[in-house]
Amino acid sequence: MCGIVGYIGKNQAAPFLLHGLEKLEYRGYDSSGIAICSDNKIKLEKKKGRLQILCDKIKDINVSGTIGIGHTRWATHGKPSDVNAHPHLSQSGKIAIVHNGIIENYITLKNFLIDKGYNFLSDTDTEVVAQLIDYLYNGNIFDAVNEAIKKLEGSYALAVLCGDEPDKLIAVKKDNPLIIGLGDNENYIASDVPAILSRTRNIFRLNDNEVALITVNDVKIYNNNGEEQNRNVTHVDWDVDSAEKGGYEHFMLKEIMEQPKAIKATIASRIAEDKIRLDDIEFSKEYLQNLNKICIVACGSAYHVGCVAKYVIEKLTRKPVEVDIASEFRYRNPIIDKNTLVIVVSQSGETADTFAALKEAKKMGAKVLSIVNVVGSSIANESDYVLYTWAGPEVAVATTKAYSTQLSLMYILGIYMGEKLGTISQEDVKNYIDSLSQIPQQVEEILKSKDDIYEIAKKYYNSQNVFFIGRNVDYAVCMEGSLKLKEISYIHSEAYAAGELKHGTISLIEDGTLVVSIATQDNLFDKTVSNIREVKSRGASIISITADNKKDKISQISDLPIYLPKTCDIMTPSLSVIPLQLLSYYIALLRECDIDKPRNLAKSVTVE
Ligand code: M6R
Repeated sequence: MCGIVGYIGKNQAAPFLLHGLEKLEYRGYDSSGIAICSDNKIKLEKKKGRLQILCDKIKDINVSGTIGIGHTRWATHGKPSDVNAHPHLSQSGKIAIVHNGIIENYITLKNFLIDKGYNFLSDTDTEVVAQLIDYLYNGNIFDAVNEAIKKLEGSYALAVLCGDEPDKLIAVKKDNPLIIGLGDNENYIASDVPAILSRTRNIFRLNDNEVALITVNDVKIYNNNGEEQNRNVTHVDWDVDSAEKGGYEHFMLKEIMEQPKAIKATIASRIAEDKIRLDDIEFSKEYLQNLNKICIVACGSAYHVGCVAKYVIEKLTRKPVEVDIASEFRYRNPIIDKNTLVIVVSQSGETADTFAALKEAKKMGAKVLSIVNVVGSSIANESDYVLYTWAGPEVAVATTKAYSTQLSLMYILGIYMGEKLGTISQEDVKNYIDSLSQIPQQVEEILKSKDDIYEIAKKYYNSQNVFFIGRNVDYAVCMEGSLKLKEISYIHSEAYAAGELKHGTISLIEDGTLVVSIATQDNLFDKTVSNIREVKSRGASIISITADNKKDKISQISDLPIYLPKTCDIMTPSLSVIPLQLLSYYIALLRECDIDKPRNLAKSVTVE
């Protein structure tokens, strides 16, 4: 997962390339580089480390030219270094390429090219593609690229620049995202919309196995049989602000604060007068009745949404729900068929394992419904049905508003299916819809107490180990709270089903160990309180999250209680996750971590 940009036009390429890369740094940030062509010569500048290092270098040198490509990297083959950074230049110096993905047969190709006299400078799989195109180049870069990709195995979004043909850029997409921005006498290539938003809102989305030939005032798209494709222009209506920090210190905090708006946008169009509508999707009662089970498949936080949804959908529909981590699902030979509904969940819609799981499920005859944030992404395109979360662009690596909107759609789905199946009454439907409609306002209320959470963070930001405990949906939210904390603050943490702690893990509790407990479920409240007592009596410091009406009981055993507005049992995750997001954010802030771009991570995981 890396970020790609390209520019061809009448203006200088470098300013756009650097700006675009800044917007794509969330995709990887261990090195960056640009290649610009002028007077048929390609000039390469690349640096290990954050983009700023490259920008500082470029400030002092002349990189003029009106055509170029750029890249921000998340290393797969070869450690982060200047030489492994993209773009990669072919031996003749004629061809420069940037790549997002993995070339699986690169060793075979590399050996072949070494036999033909090519020397390699880097440890990357990508350099092989530059040399291969060079080897096949016969005066026509478009033909050479088309020939080269026939020999590639794996996944690749590519942008290609040729010194001998400085009037064209070539873009290729297979299993990794790539868009083309359409300007006035200038055109752009990018991995994602934020990179081009300041220049144009009109884009072409490339489909898999398509190659685009881009000139200053034309874009032609071809499929892998060389047939020209008609493509409608997609108009992007995101406002620039929603892809910028808008006055907040970090994208993560901005995105946390955007949750009321994002949840509202996601549910509003799906609720009409005490009824749920799934956009244009209609599941018949018969189809739902015949379902033997529902499988939810996703990675990371999206998987945690699935863990909440299991409790919710089973309760509302009485259908068995399995939840799988996508990288496990795709290789475990799951038992699914045409009577299984597979729900895949993904913010980016590009996560490699989730995408592969989707294809696997379809191959086995299941229908796939995806819950996705990025419109037109690979997962959305391949699914039988899509429900979009209307969260807007999410930039911080740690997801917040995508998680919350995915969760809202799980409630929407559960209520819809429960009503169709008759497993919940009309009155239940009305009550659930009422509760769901109040969530945005209730999240807003919780966000108002963010300064209190900051004070709590001040007490605990030096913790070395943190345990999150809860039961039922509270346990599922604990998983998300724990991931959030570890990914941005680098504190070790674990989520445990509260009743499971005494089967081993409680031995890790000692004086001062921080335990965050969630106890929102009426029927399980006393049980969780007992578990809190167990760790408290062994020295743990307790932060408890519970409903407002539980104040009396919880205040006696908590060092720091956090109270939530009252909602129905299944929807408490939408509220309880908010203090956990804020707690992680402030702890990471106090530890001076790189919150939006935590170490070793990238926003969009497009490699297996
Ligand atoms: O784009 P996706 O929702 O498919 O991404 C899945 C995970 O990589 C993602 O949720 C990840 O766990 C987040 N960084 C967690 O904050």
